[in-house]
Amino acid sequence: MEVERVQAIASFSIPADTIPAEFIRPETEQPGITTYHGPVPEIPTVDFGDPDQENLVRMVSDASREWGLFQIVNHGIPNEVIEKLQKVGREFFELPQEEKETVARKPGVNSFTIEGYGTNLKKGDEKKSWVDFLFHNIWPASRVNYQFWPKNPPAYREANEIYAQHLKGVVDKLLKTISQGLGLEGNAIKDAVGGEELEYLLKINYYPPCPRPDLTLGVPAHTDMSVVTVLVPNEVPGLQVFKDDRWFDAKYIPNALIIHIGDQIEILSNGKYKSVLHRTTVNKEKTRMSWPVFCSPPAEMVIGPLPQLVIEDSPSKEANEIYTQHLKGVVDKLLKTISQGLGLE
Ligand code: SIN
Ligand code: FE2
Repeated sequence: MEVERVQAIASFSIPADTIPAEFIRPETEQPGITTYHGPVPEIPTVDFGDPDQENLVRMVSDASREWGLFQIVNHGIPNEVIEKLQKVGREFFELPQEEKETVARKPGVNSFTIEGYGTNLKKGDEKKSWVDFLFHNIWPASRVNYQFWPKNPPAYREANEIYAQHLKGVVDKLLKTISQGLGLEGNAIKDAVGGEELEYLLKINYYPPCPRPDLTLGVPAHTDMSVVTVLVPNEVPGLQVFKDDRWFDAKYIPNALIIHIGDQIEILSNGKYKSVLHRTTVNKEKTRMSWPVFCSPPAEMVIGPLPQLVIEDSPSKEANEIYTQHLKGVVDKLLKTISQGLGLE
């Protein structure tokens, strides 16, 4: 089946200052109306190179409780490694359309594979999003399907493999710090999400320039289903975070990594840390790109609140209620994803 790519729509000569109706969000979602421009509280920045581990634990813990999102600087991944990851990703999206289609998501019986090059289809009344993307696992080796990795540019594979190796070190340290912030042994969270089986799924988002960025969204509001997501942005801002009932722009910090606390940490921590509600806006003149890596337990693992936290901190009734609500959210999301995969509303 031919899928119409947003990159192609964006390059058509549509009349100035208009976009197709299926991209126009209801007013309650339009960034032109719903973005808060008042005094902006700063999204936390954490110095990951801080030799004082206690201080680092405090910074990460505060940010995870209050925001569910923070930027880390001095993370130890060399800038060249990140620049190469960005360069090969950009070069892939700049290839002729037919070349990109060679790694397109494969249609299955009822849905497309997750991995591969894709564009969200319009489902029922739902609006389209101003983005094309590429998904593929980068870790562990047993989960990597090279059929979904671009052959072009030729440096694509090496750049992604080197980034994955460096990223592992950052994620290990992050999970250790999060565990300690919850008053647990350093390895508690990692062990609870599969240890070395933790899966790293890379997504590259490609948001072409858009004549009406005030009316549409790159990615609509959602929380990530991951344990944590580690994101490399390009220099075009667009990430927005929902806090205190308002949408705030995340500032672009060169060379920083953006960390999202995902649903799995919210569940494991028994609600102490929040998975962050976020969305993305697009730009009138520039292409925005981002490289989130979703770190998730193997599919067959079931995640519940860590018993240590339920016993210590919350009466079990309350804990059970919180957990039931989380489960309901996760199930609702799963059902939504499945019905979308079936092309339903
Ligand atoms: C996403 O949340 O899926 C995308 C975030 C971004 O592009 O910054
Ligand atoms: Fe996200």
